[in-house]
Amino acid sequence: MTKQAAVFSLSLTLLVFIFQCSTTLAQAPDIIEILEKPGRFTVLVRLLKNTGVANQLNGELQKSNTGYTFFAPPDEAFSGLRSGAINSLSDLQKVQLLQFHILATFVSLPNFQTLSNPVPTQAGDTSAGEFPLNVTSSGKDVGLATGVVNATIGTTVYSDDELAVYQVDKVLLPLDIFRDYKPPEPVPESPPVAAKVHESGALSLTCHGMLAVFLGIAANIAAFSL
Ligand SMILES: *[C@@H]1O[C@H](CO)[C@@H](O)[C@H](O)[C@H]1NC(C)=O
Ligand SMILES: *[C@@H]1O[C@H](CO)[C@@H](O)[C@H](O)[C@H]1NC(C)=O
Repeated sequence: MTKQAAVFSLSLTLLVFIFQCSTTLAQAPDIIEILEKPGRFTVLVRLLKNTGVANQLNGELQKSNTGYTFFAPPDEAFSGLRSGAINSLSDLQKVQLLQFHILATFVSLPNFQTLSNPVPTQAGDTSAGEFPLNVTSSGKDVGLATGVVNATIGTTVYSDDELAVYQVDKVLLPLDIFRDYKPPEPVPESPPVAAKVHESGALSLTCHGMLAVFLGIAANIAAFSL
């Protein structure tokens, strides 16, 4: 290789490298990648994928000028719901539930106080009274009220200047879908002590039974070998 060819090939490699770097940097954030990393949003990730809302949001993020805000309930929040609360929804309602967790503007934490209620979400037209979501605050905490649940905004999962993802402690159940929702009943108390004694009594009986059978076999073997 001549010196010139070497320099040429080196600069070409450098150019390709710079090009790849800049395209990576310019790439819009991917909501699934962001939510998969912490490992505690598996239900949310599954819903976002199955409904197509993830692709929709990722597409919008690429052309947005105003950015997006995403409220992310962790698995714990989903397991706190009445069983079947999500599974019994129609496909459209699942999409609306997820869109209710998305604001079509980037809101930094201090700026929540400046929003006026009800706050428009992706789910519907709040001016027509659809899908109301209110920002409430007590002290430093920023809360969200849907008319069905009161949630609190927790840690910032992700933030750049076009997308903010905040963890919320509850699934934001929109009034339009969950008007008649009842939270699950408290977990039933553990069985009374008497039942437990009975259980262990039965267990020791079986142990004795087993021992008797075992001794019987042993005795037979002993008798046979005599
Ligand atoms: C939300 O705020 C609006 C306007 O202040 C109010 O009329 C409505 O009752 C509030 N709803 C909830 C659930 O907090
Ligand atoms: C939400 O908070 C409001 C105001 O503090 C209260 O009146 C309402 O009962 C709460 N709703 C639920 C579901 O906890």
